Amino acid sequence: MSSAQSFYGRWAALYDRIALYTPGVARLRERAAAALRLSPGDTVVDMGCGTGANLPYLRDRVGPEGTVVGVDFTGPILDRARRLVERRGWENVHVVRGDATRPPVDGADAVLSTFVVGMFADPAGTVDGWCDIVGPGGRVVLLDAARSDRRYAPPVNAALRAVTVLSTPPTRKIRYDDPPDERLTGRVTATRDALRERSDAVAREEHWLGIIRLTGGRVI
Ligand SMILES: C[S@@+](CC[C@H](N)C(=O)[O-])C[C@H]1O[C@@H](n2cnc3c(N)ncnc32)[C@H](O)[C@@H]1O
Repeated sequence: MSSAQSFYGRWAALYDRIALYTPGVARLRERAAAALRLSPGDTVVDMGCGTGANLPYLRDRVGPEGTVVGVDFTGPILDRARRLVERRGWENVHVVRGDATRPPVDGADAVLSTFVVGMFADPAGTVDGWCDIVGPGGRVVLLDAARSDRRYAPPVNAALRAVTVLSTPPTRKIRYDDPPDERLTGRVTATRDALRERSDAVAREEHWLGIIRLTGGRVI
């Protein structure tokens, strides 16, 4: 089991609250879902779906005739997503245990991934694989936090560093050769660049003083 799996497994209940109730996060999820340009009947995959916070937005857009698949590799996190699906009685929303860097999916109209790609060792290669899954005309949308380069960014960058240190195992380390927020920013940037190379932009937004980035593309 990876350190990320044991970390998210241990903190699944707390993460669920954060994913649902962080002020402003619902609006970000809504914008990310809108950027997918879904139509009723479409199939959409949420890579690293966590406790299922995006699933209601995706189900709303594909309707009862579409399909939503959530993929995550952490058991206790997925249990929460499964309970959400059962409570809502959605028959066309499926939650699957799997590795988002080698997803157990061979076709979809769109792929979403929110606050995940910064955890991948090869994020650019992974997003390339997602572009292959959706094929030409399919959409891939990424929502992530990364360091901001805006003039007024230092306080939000300091907050981002605190959050990434607390959420990157081992969480008690004080000195890093490669601080987690810088590693995260490098990975998020590499992923966005890889997506832009493979697609025409359908979304390019910054929120929260530039630390939140929404990047979406229609694969060429
Ligand atoms: C910060 S949470 C984000 C969850 C959800 N996307 C959200 O927006 O609330 C990161 C999630 O990615 C999952 N994850 C990380 N690497 C993964 C991988 N290689 N395959 C599948 N899931 C992964 C973790 O288990 C965790 O649930």
